[in-house]
Amino acid sequence: MAKDLTTTGPDHVAIIMDGNGRWAQKRGKPRLFGHHAGAKRVRQIVEACPDLGVKYLTIFAFSTENWRRTQTEVAGLMKLFRRYIEREARDLLANGVRVRFIGDRMKLDDRLVQLMDDLELLTSGNDRVHMTVAINYGGRDEVTRAAKRLALEIEQGRLTHRDVDAETLARFLDTHVLPDPDLVIRTSGEARISNFLLWQSAYAEYEFIDTLWPDFTAEEFAEVVGRYAARDRRFGAVKV
Ligand code: IPE
Ligand code: IPE
Ligand code: MG
Repeated sequence: MAKDLTTTGPDHVAIIMDGNGRWAQKRGKPRLFGHHAGAKRVRQIVEACPDLGVKYLTIFAFSTENWRRTQTEVAGLMKLFRRYIEREARDLLANGVRVRFIGDRMKLDDRLVQLMDDLELLTSGNDRVHMTVAINYGGRDEVTRAAKRLALEIEQGRLTHRDVDAETLARFLDTHVLPDPDLVIRTSGEARISNFLLWQSAYAEYEFIDTLWPDFTAEEFAEVVGRYAARDRRFGAVKV
């Protein structure tokens, strides 16, 4: 997506919320304790967005690879997602947050999918902050699903191979209504992207910070977002 070369604040911030398990371990608690503490952080970060000029916030909650964890942890996370939606729906609506979900819903429990659909619909009139939650999301999986749907369009004669370009493919991605992220933040000290927004982050700026997700405050978020303004984004061009 063409963007103007002047850097101001990021419109779209994406966050890999990592470090819940280590946060809990440090306290001698089960990993799920860390996930609960992590979920509580989300509200503060979403609420900080409007003042920072961040219109879109995308958060990575569960990856297509996270099914490899123990059944206890996976089931606990799925329950946490359900309870989170039930508990937060009213405030999200009242606070002008439009919620969307990305990722493959096929593998998710019907009750969770129903809550996700309902929350998307409930908040669809909001425009203050656009929060997207990635659940059972993987960048490769998303591009693969997009390619499959594109192939079906061609097979059924609605498109031809000549229509296939980056823009057309992007229309089939889960993120088709969102702008590309300007800034991707990962907490917990790991410097990798773990299959998050692979296509969309082609020109994103990255910030890898040591803080574990449950300790990530609105103040630190503001600092990280503030640093972004000093970045020189060129998108492959040369500035004159
Ligand atoms: C991130 O925290 C949340 C999810 C992946 C669901 P982790 O659970 O990965 O925490 P660490 O990395 O083990 O500390
Ligand atoms: C990435 O964190 C996924 C989420 C934050 C939901 P992981 O903890 O799963 O990533 P790896 O395993 O360290 O790469
Ligand atoms: Mg982790």
